[in-house]
Amino acid sequence: EKGTYPHFMLKEIDEQPFVIRKIIQEYQDENDAIKLDADIRKAMKKVDRIYIIAAGTSYHAGLVGKQFLEKLANIPVEVHIASEFSYNMPLLSEKPLFIFISQSGETADSRSVLVKIKELGHTALTVTNVPGSTLSREADHTLHLHAGPEIAVASTKAYTAQIAVLAILAVDTAKAKGIALDFDPLQELGIVASAMESLTDQKEEFEAIAKDMFATTPNAFYIGRGMDYFVVQEASLKLKEISYIQAEGFAGGELKHGTIALIEDGTPVIAISTQENVNYSIRGNVQEVEARGAKACVISLKGLDQDTDSFVLPHVHELLTPLVSVIPMQLLAYYAALHRDCDVDKPRNLAKSVTVE
Ligand code: F6R
Repeated sequence: EKGTYPHFMLKEIDEQPFVIRKIIQEYQDENDAIKLDADIRKAMKKVDRIYIIAAGTSYHAGLVGKQFLEKLANIPVEVHIASEFSYNMPLLSEKPLFIFISQSGETADSRSVLVKIKELGHTALTVTNVPGSTLSREADHTLHLHAGPEIAVASTKAYTAQIAVLAILAVDTAKAKGIALDFDPLQELGIVASAMESLTDQKEEFEAIAKDMFATTPNAFYIGRGMDYFVVQEASLKLKEISYIQAEGFAGGELKHGTIALIEDGTPVIAISTQENVNYSIRGNVQEVEARGAKACVISLKGLDQDTDSFVLPHVHELLTPLVSVIPMQLLAYYAALHRDCDVDKPRNLAKSVTVE
């Protein structure tokens, strides 16, 4: 039920701090350590490479998850779009593990990869919001997102739940492998939940930015580097699917290799800057597009901010910034769709779960 909310999407955006707290609770034992299925721990410990398979927003969560698994657990990870996997089947390592990320657990593109890799005798772990779903039943292991039903077609809380659960999985695996970390995901996620709350409490800010940037524009660009590049890809998908504005998410450094030709007077460009190592370069990209007439909006992390930024995000651990930087992106898409009179919860041509290949 929507309750007092005008749309499920807005309700689900607002639920994200609670979902993160629920995940902390579900994945925490009585000693405040990570609680995770012993079989999953065992399976993760012995793999030499992980193949993440997903579609759409779940694929974007996979791009972030790869960073956790590589940087924290020291396991090489490939992230594949499910529908492309069979055409470009990679050479598999000796001890592969497949992680299927799927909110619904019913995505046909992902399922066809699951069927194929099970035939080859490989192990599958499904990360899903629906434990009884096809992808969950047919995999060897399941990690539950605990996000509660997601009704709006545009995925919001499932994305942040996927990232949170993958962070926990990566740290648990690191510990199982004897890697010492000074990163407590449960504690850091607690900080994230409060940061998310402060963002959902400032909706007017994002409504104003959306009105200013997206009221009439036919197109929009999002730019980011490193971790922020993954979030801008999700940001542009969100905007496209519900507001029908043609949008693209680019790596800041790629602009000069072609896309900058599209920048005209007034073209909206949204930049995210949450990582110290990219802050200088992404701001250089903002200057480049502004010099060509773009209307730029920078959303930065506290500590990396400058006076002209449109919004400053509360500080969270540098690995977990997608969990907070995505919230303004979801709200910008929501308000853009609202201003343009679009059907927010049921965008044209889209279904909540895509059960055809
Ligand atoms: C976008 C969106 C889709 C899904 C994709 C995969 O907002 O919802 O891109 O993320 O269809 O769906 P699941 O995660 O159910 O496999």
